[in-house]
Amino acid sequence: MTKHTEQRSDYTFKYNTKLGRHGWLRLTPAYSVKLVQELVSETPKNAFILDPFSGTATTGLCAIEMGMSAHLCDINPFLIWFGNTKLFNFSGRKLNELEKVFDEILNSFPAKISNDNWVPNLHNIERWWCGHTLPIVAALRSEIVEKVGEPQDDPYSNLIWICFCRLIIETSSAAFNHVSMSFKGGVTKFEVHQIQSLFGSIFENVLASARKPLKGKAVVNSIDSRCMTDVDNIRYAHVITSPPYPNRMSYIRELRPYMYWTKFLDKASEAGELDWKAIGGTWGIATSRLKDWAPSEVELPKILLNSCEAILNSGDKNSELMARYVHKYFYDMHLHFASLRNLLEPGAKLDYIVGNSTFYGIHVDSDKIYEKSLEILGYTNISTTIVRKRNSKKELYEFCVSARWNG
Ligand SMILES: C[S@@+](CC[C@H](N)C(=O)[O-])C[C@H]1O[C@@H](n2cnc3c(N)ncnc32)[C@H](O)[C@@H]1O
Repeated sequence: MTKHTEQRSDYTFKYNTKLGRHGWLRLTPAYSVKLVQELVSETPKNAFILDPFSGTATTGLCAIEMGMSAHLCDINPFLIWFGNTKLFNFSGRKLNELEKVFDEILNSFPAKISNDNWVPNLHNIERWWCGHTLPIVAALRSEIVEKVGEPQDDPYSNLIWICFCRLIIETSSAAFNHVSMSFKGGVTKFEVHQIQSLFGSIFENVLASARKPLKGKAVVNSIDSRCMTDVDNIRYAHVITSPPYPNRMSYIRELRPYMYWTKFLDKASEAGELDWKAIGGTWGIATSRLKDWAPSEVELPKILLNSCEAILNSGDKNSELMARYVHKYFYDMHLHFASLRNLLEPGAKLDYIVGNSTFYGIHVDSDKIYEKSLEILGYTNISTTIVRKRNSKKELYEFCVSARWNG
């Protein structure tokens, strides 16, 4: 891979938005198709790829578009559901039938508009959709449920739900100018005909990409990457992934509009529980539990312990909590690297895309800490390349940390 030290939008999720299935739903921390294609092209033919942090299944989709096979893991049930739909090989005939169901929904939902339809228990919902738009979107949801049921395992009806997710985000006040989702200045009022037209064009777009056959096969499994388990006894030749970064971003927070509207989340307390399982999770209860967290006896890189010590001594009122956050993040990643070893073919290659971060001006060098963890665990040929600069002012980069497992 070429070394890049400038900011490059072609190496971020922005590059993916117009690339068929890759653009179905937006997740800011998704990585770029271009970067993944470069890495997949290094995988030996007929070998299996593993992505232990699937997210929106970018690795899996790139792999099967290039005729390879892949297994993916995630712990977020919405992303597992979404990823498996994105990776499905659809039949043209069944998609034609789905088109008819979609047209019925589009024409019949306005008759359902009232204030009685179910709306999610999303905090400050009026900040997302105004009092005019919300009942229209809720009526559409209720009509979808009547025609195809709630989101489930049927990939065809899931396509309609994915379009609904796109619609709710495009009609909301969510803004994507930052790494984390934020709010625009105000909410926009949408009329019924505008929602119909928008929903129609989203479906057209999703359908066109769903019609494109995929060459390989990939699935997303619900597996906690801190204790990897094997799937069908497969051993992997190439791990291509982008784990969470130690930057306090919460995937549950980013995904909450989708997760509430699709009923993958119902209460704020569930969000905290889910985020506690996520590496680097930091939402609600996940942060309060950190106060009582302590690592078990494992040899961890000295450079990590030094960074935690410096954060602890920084004098900020939250320094103890942040030091523990960083400690736990790299401890969890260490457990991941350790459990991964059982699933690798001798000679397997690892490529981990990760960013560094700073806490109170103290640098947390993820690349160097990963390198040391890998070394302690017996990986070889460890090296790092800079993929891009993430921020014009601060020294924030994205790295590709690579290694080999020789058994
Ligand atoms: C940076 S995102 C991956 C983005 C992905 N490369 C894409 O293009 O969409 C990291 C993912 O790791 C998942 N994750 C966090 N902790 C995990 C764990 N313990 N086990 C499995 N997946 C986890 C999160 O749910 C999130 O989807």
